[in-house]
Amino acid sequence: MYSEKVMDHFQHPRNVGEIENASGVGTVGNAKCGDIMRMFLDIDENGIIQDVKFKTFGCGAAVATSSMATELVKGKSIQEALQVTNKAVMEALDGLPPVKVHCSLLAEEAIHAALWDYAQKNGIEIEGLSKPKSDISEGEEEEDY
Ligand code: FES
Repeated sequence: MYSEKVMDHFQHPRNVGEIENASGVGTVGNAKCGDIMRMFLDIDENGIIQDVKFKTFGCGAAVATSSMATELVKGKSIQEALQVTNKAVMEALDGLPPVKVHCSLLAEEAIHAALWDYAQKNGIEIEGLSKPKSDISEGEEEEDY
């Protein structure tokens, strides 16, 4: 039921971990299942995402979609990263079973939450970005889960 790419990213997820002193950190929760995703972005002075890492308490589909999402945003500009929707991630993975589509939202929203954090820290506005509803980062930045 899962594509080979999904299985590959689930079994060998890319960019798992965290970034110390990240430019932006976003933590989001999936209201449907209660799973959690945290994304770390390292953004240089030109607005290019130099590095990205993620940690999750999520299902296999959440791991695979986040892994693919990190690959898609690495080396990209902020605006390009905003184009990495859950749909784009699913297409890159050759699809997900319908019951697992909601899992792919975690990755997209975690990227948005991390970009939101970056914008807040730097006092800037990122065109087309609003605070994700699933953002649960407030007041728990340093906390490990
Ligand atoms: Fe929770 Fe997939 S079941 S993210």
